[in-house]
Amino acid sequence: MMKIKKAVLPVAGFGTRFLPATKAIPKEMLTIIDKPLIEYAVEEAISAGAEEIIFITSYTKPAIKNYFSRVPELEKQLKSTGKIELLEKIQPKIFENVKFTYINQKEQKGLGHAILLAEEAVGSDAFSVLLPDDLFISTPSCLEQIRDSYSQNLQPTIAVNRIDKNNIHKYGVVDLGGNQLNKTNTAVISNIIEKPHASVAPSDIAVAGRYIFNPTIFECIKKVEADNSGEIQITDAIKLLTKIENVQVKIFDGEKYDCGSKDGYLEATIAVAMKDPYYSNKIKKIITGKL
Ligand code: UTP
Repeated sequence: MMKIKKAVLPVAGFGTRFLPATKAIPKEMLTIIDKPLIEYAVEEAISAGAEEIIFITSYTKPAIKNYFSRVPELEKQLKSTGKIELLEKIQPKIFENVKFTYINQKEQKGLGHAILLAEEAVGSDAFSVLLPDDLFISTPSCLEQIRDSYSQNLQPTIAVNRIDKNNIHKYGVVDLGGNQLNKTNTAVISNIIEKPHASVAPSDIAVAGRYIFNPTIFECIKKVEADNSGEIQITDAIKLLTKIENVQVKIFDGEKYDCGSKDGYLEATIAVAMKDPYYSNKIKKIITGKL
């Protein structure tokens, strides 16, 4: 199985939709029950073979680096009190041979700008990009699914899903330009439009926060000009990329929660809790008690 050895996790945004919490807590550190969103994304990157996690972060978010560092005093305390289960939780085995790299994005000039900062660290191989505020629940993971499409032809691959008309304006929407989805639900796109009005959306297929790129994307990002809000959008770079490489999308199998929004975060918390017999009983009791 092919490995995507480097994963870029852009986490430098301000997370304004979660203010006031995000004044002090990065949105990626918000927890679903007891595990921060960012850890779900790191696990997913590792599932597709990541050996290095490259965080694009900000000096205002020291919590992320702290989270992936060891805390010897706590480890010692858990060992001496026999809390081995918790020890595994704070230092998961799957992280043992993974390198964590931190790159500072000094100004929040957009997702495209954030990804470009990883150019040197990525080097010459294919790499993944995971937006940790999108939480995916599936087996195999969403990134493994797009890795499998990528490995067929080494074409940049983007995870997508179908979105209803009322919500399509919130996403990057792809144009298949007459191409058909094949039996693995993969198709080459002809264009991509950022947040179109429903009446002009080229399809109901929207970008979800998982991508696999070849390093050619960096040249495209360099050519993109900032939009009206001063941000360099990755969507604009992908638009340019479609002119020089086949870019394909894959409709993934599984659940996705947009935890960058409060509704999505709440849904994700309930969905994860409902998969656990203990919490699902508790939730059912609370809800039926209130009805
Ligand atoms: P979002 O727009 O969803 O995140 O960016 P945000 O700006 O933090 O959130 P709101 O809209 O203010 O609530 C998508 C991803 O890109 C990262 C964010 O951290 C998030 O993971 N990002 C965005 C950067 O790393 N740098 C940027 O300049 C912008």
